[in-house]
Amino acid sequence: MCGIIGVVGSDETLATLLQGLERLEYRGYDSAGIALVRAGHTWRARTAEGTESVAALRLECKDAPQDYRSGIGHTRWATHGAPEAENAHPHLDCSGHVAIIHNGIIENHAQLREELSQRGHHFTSVTDTEVVAHLVEELRARGLDLLDAVRHALLRVRGAFAIAVMDASEPDVIVAARRISPLVVGTAPGVSYLASDVPAILDRATAFYAVNDDEVVRLGPEGFRAVDLEGAPVRLRQLQIDWDLETAEKGGFDDFMSKEIAEQPDAVFATLLDRQRGDGTIVFDELRISDQELREVRRVVLVACGTSLHAAQVAKYAIERWARLSVDVDIASEYRYRDPIVEIGTLVIGVSQSGETIDTIQATREAQRRGARVVAISNIVDSSLAREADAVIYTRAGLEVSVASTKAFVAQVAALELLALRLAQLRETLTTSEIEALLGGLHEISGQIATALSRRGDVDAVATQLLHAHDYFFIGRHVGFPTALEGALKLKEITYMHAEGYAAGELKHGPLALIEPGVIVVAVTTDANMHEKILSNVAEVKARGATVIAVAADDDEQIGAVADFVLRVPRTDPMFTPMIDIVPLQLLAYSLARGLGRNVDRPRNLAKTVTVE
Ligand code: AGP
Repeated sequence: MCGIIGVVGSDETLATLLQGLERLEYRGYDSAGIALVRAGHTWRARTAEGTESVAALRLECKDAPQDYRSGIGHTRWATHGAPEAENAHPHLDCSGHVAIIHNGIIENHAQLREELSQRGHHFTSVTDTEVVAHLVEELRARGLDLLDAVRHALLRVRGAFAIAVMDASEPDVIVAARRISPLVVGTAPGVSYLASDVPAILDRATAFYAVNDDEVVRLGPEGFRAVDLEGAPVRLRQLQIDWDLETAEKGGFDDFMSKEIAEQPDAVFATLLDRQRGDGTIVFDELRISDQELREVRRVVLVACGTSLHAAQVAKYAIERWARLSVDVDIASEYRYRDPIVEIGTLVIGVSQSGETIDTIQATREAQRRGARVVAISNIVDSSLAREADAVIYTRAGLEVSVASTKAFVAQVAALELLALRLAQLRETLTTSEIEALLGGLHEISGQIATALSRRGDVDAVATQLLHAHDYFFIGRHVGFPTALEGALKLKEITYMHAEGYAAGELKHGPLALIEPGVIVVAVTTDANMHEKILSNVAEVKARGATVIAVAADDDEQIGAVADFVLRVPRTDPMFTPMIDIVPLQLLAYSLARGLGRNVDRPRNLAKTVTVE
């Protein structure tokens, strides 16, 4: 996820771009850059200073020309190409006149790069984005104006984009376009703006407009004109923005937690994007472990904490089932103190949203000391964990601000299950058609999460009846068990009420003694393979007076007879259910916490990243 901003016709172009980039840093900050454009001249500055990239860019721009009235800016979350200055946006064409910034992924960039190189274009970066600059260059050379050149270039592009293009030979014009990645346009008298989100231009523009997929907008000082990819005029929908800046940074949501819960479809979509070749081969650009080394893996150990530990527990079921590899999951803070056995062929996977959790870092260091190869699953590019590991797979959930982790969980499960399928591909433990079918199901999850999110009203209706409950069990079987653990953790950390996640089959071995009227049992019942078993567990607790909330599949016709409340979710392959079932559990915790007046983004006693042991 990257942040883009543009302004045309302003006397404060440089200040607008730098201020906007500071507000867009949450979208990624491993590098940053701006280009200022006037007739015949493009001035560019780029930095790659990690979290200090935008600050470094501000210093770099001290010598920038002050009389340019148009420009574009970008803060990067690297997907293709290391987070180094030469890969920072804006990218230029061969002439140095065309400048482009981009948020998204161009899936067919390799083929386009090959074509353009054969036609003599010289590339200066390894990014996917740069191919569009050269496509526009060619089309401009054929006499197309910038709007038509960008439009025709995008007709060649597959993938996701929010882009902005300028050309010094057509000054005071920016052409922007969108497919999947967010883009807004703003206007004020004599000035036009574009940005990845409203906060970046909130105190500059006076009117705001949403850009829809495959719409192309030509911005000038006088305003903007929009067309579709075929060139037909379209009207942009005006947004009613009456937010203050803090609200705007939450995208209009009351808090970051609800914003990030709502971003889960995008988090899964982005994490899966461009990680499968046309022939079905699963690829992780940043993996840096060879296929042969992965084939030689004999055992997998996952180490993590908190929510990431629950994602790791889901991965255990997937890797064992699909890749037929023995998997252990260790609490990171326990791993290094138990004198772990690391044999040849042991792959250790450290799972961490922040990539800075010291327990997880210390566990992976211990594993490396004992000879293991380590893969990091990190949501932050170039995090400590990512840097120290032998390889990394980035989740692309975007920055997660709320202490309670939500979108990172579904992105981690998606990334880990994709890795499990890659291991199955290499070990040939699943047939090609089995893998194809599973990949098809995985790519539907994003939409199914959106469906689960649309049923928030059902969850709120249940929560209002439970505000005075104080004792919760979350139960599940198979992957429903780590889902239950995660649901319990969400409730604990933002409502401060006691909740326990438990394997449903284990209740009768003791905890059933705690079940009595007033105790709430949340049962995750969507796994078709375990349905009969979990229904009998629900009957066990009902018989002892518990109030049961069931998370159940849409087509489950039995659950209504045994549960007091049913929260419906779309049916999917059992192994994918944690990414969907967790949604009503997150919403339940959120709704109860709001009802109890808790600060959901900053719950007491907790920190977003635990960098102490
Ligand atoms: C989860 O909501 C908590 N914020 C916490 O358990 C968190 O998952 C844990 O501290 C691990 O953080 P990490 O993923 O950044 O390593």
